[in-house]
Amino acid sequence: CGIIGVLGHHEVAPLLVEALKRLEYRGYDSAGIATVENGVLDRRRAVGKLVNLSDLLVHEPLAGKAGIGHTRWATHGAPTVGNAHPHKAGPVCVVHNGIIENFQELRRELSDAGYRFDSETDTETIALLTQSYMDGGMDAITAAKSTIGRLEGAFGLCFLFEGQGDLLIAARKGSPLAIGHGDGEMFIGSDAIALAPMTDQITYLEDGDHAIVTRAGAKIFGSDGAPVSRPIKTVHLDATRIEKAGHKHFMAKEIAEQPIVLAEAMTHYVQNGEITLPEALDFTKFDRITMVACGTAYLACLTAKYWFEQIARIPVEVDVASEFRYREPPIPARTLAIFVSQSGETADTLAALHYAKGKADMILSVVNVTESSMARDSDLALPILAGVEVSVASTKAFTCQLSLLSLLTLKAAQQRGKIDIGTAAKHLENLKKIPSLISHSLAISSDVKKIARKIAKAEDVLFLGRGAMFPLALEGALKLKELSYIHAEGYASGELKHGPIALIDNRVPVVVMAPRDALFDKTVSNMQEVMARGGKVLLISDAKGIAQAGQGVWETLTMPEVDPVFAPILYALPAQLLAYYTAIAKGTDVDQPRNLAKSVTVE
Ligand code: G6P
Repeated sequence: CGIIGVLGHHEVAPLLVEALKRLEYRGYDSAGIATVENGVLDRRRAVGKLVNLSDLLVHEPLAGKAGIGHTRWATHGAPTVGNAHPHKAGPVCVVHNGIIENFQELRRELSDAGYRFDSETDTETIALLTQSYMDGGMDAITAAKSTIGRLEGAFGLCFLFEGQGDLLIAARKGSPLAIGHGDGEMFIGSDAIALAPMTDQITYLEDGDHAIVTRAGAKIFGSDGAPVSRPIKTVHLDATRIEKAGHKHFMAKEIAEQPIVLAEAMTHYVQNGEITLPEALDFTKFDRITMVACGTAYLACLTAKYWFEQIARIPVEVDVASEFRYREPPIPARTLAIFVSQSGETADTLAALHYAKGKADMILSVVNVTESSMARDSDLALPILAGVEVSVASTKAFTCQLSLLSLLTLKAAQQRGKIDIGTAAKHLENLKKIPSLISHSLAISSDVKKIARKIAKAEDVLFLGRGAMFPLALEGALKLKELSYIHAEGYASGELKHGPIALIDNRVPVVVMAPRDALFDKTVSNMQEVMARGGKVLLISDAKGIAQAGQGVWETLTMPEVDPVFAPILYALPAQLLAYYTAIAKGTDVDQPRNLAKSVTVE
């Protein structure tokens, strides 16, 4: 969810909506704003995309120079107007990101005291508890502080009060919050991106902090309630408008951008044939690597495991963040912990990073948003340099993650003496070719479009791959289900016979990702097993591979020849295009698929 708060000189409703637009990547189930005008607290809320809230405000405008806003990714309660934020109870409105774990208990207490609930959310409890304290005689600030003290779980909060046109109260536990300093104006946002058009003077609240904000400035208090001082930083963010640049969807634009951003990232990290990384990153100091991430970023880690282990001969453990954070994994000495995240804000990955802090020898984050919480909380943060990624389904961030991770692998191999100069140079040369190979391969789009129309009719689709292509099979399946809502699974080709082969019949398309690598023949054997059972195979390989193994298959996609080591970066393209065009064929919302959010800031 995304939070915004403004104490301005002018009408705040347009500012709030504009900021929410920038926060929509955190959820788009519903949105709302509240303002104080002549002391009166009022709100507007709408289900679905932000445009619905904008439309509502045209018919029912909201005046006032102080306000808060929220864009929601539903946790407790369906995405309805009643469950949308801000939540209001008497003289208080509140917006909230996170989950209040003891809300049932608080809800019972408030019900027993005679308070009525209008929603199913945990957030309304916060508003009602504050109201109950105010009914008991407390002023707004004391009531909010008392409420914050009783909340368990993770939250970012912002309060607005009736009769108080110059007061916002913010609190942070687990969920990041930033305070923006303007010229006689003050802002609160769940990240600096939301505040970028308004100010670049940012104070990040630390965990457990709360802040009393007026137009004169912010007073910040630590978790023990004592005043603390937190620095104001100048944060440079590109506030330029994000546009589709002639493409129908952001996803199409971001897929097409890959050759450019990959080439630029390569130029940034490779100078005069040398991989240039901060000196602090010394792989001879580590005996093992732990990698943690969610979603597509997790699949980039799984791919990198093959590279790190095969090329740099360093053992790698990979885990999804939501499992890692609670498993209490022992982290032995000489461990490098790598956290991969496009946004740098994903709640589970951030919590996993905090768990590893002080245990691992080094915390390295691989992020796209350099001003993110993960980047700030790491020993070292390396940008993937993909540029702003808007589409919920990650494309260019994935290939940029892969490309940076492959450079880290080569660096590790060199530092650890596992590769000679000639081989390292050869690998680098092959990597440098990938952007132009992707660029050429964009021409497969028209073939993919035709195949996608057939895939759109399927109810289940399987993706198969071996070695470093196995994680890519998982990514192909993830993309397809995210975008087209078709059930899809990725399997290691060799594992098929141990269960999933039972699903095969002539209604199930099976996408086989098979660059001609050392395992090509084995993958082809598994493909034959599918065809022997009537399965419809889409073979993705190069021309020689298709000539060799393509007889009798359902469909083929011909890729250029590529060095097999880094083939997953190139083969990400057909996986992305297949999902994109299947979504188009099905008429689903490509850039904002149902139920998802670009960055999930609750656990
Ligand atoms: C969400 C998105 C995915 C993304 C994952 C991790 O679930 O829908 O596309 O891969 O979060 O996001 P991150 O920002 O940490 O890479």
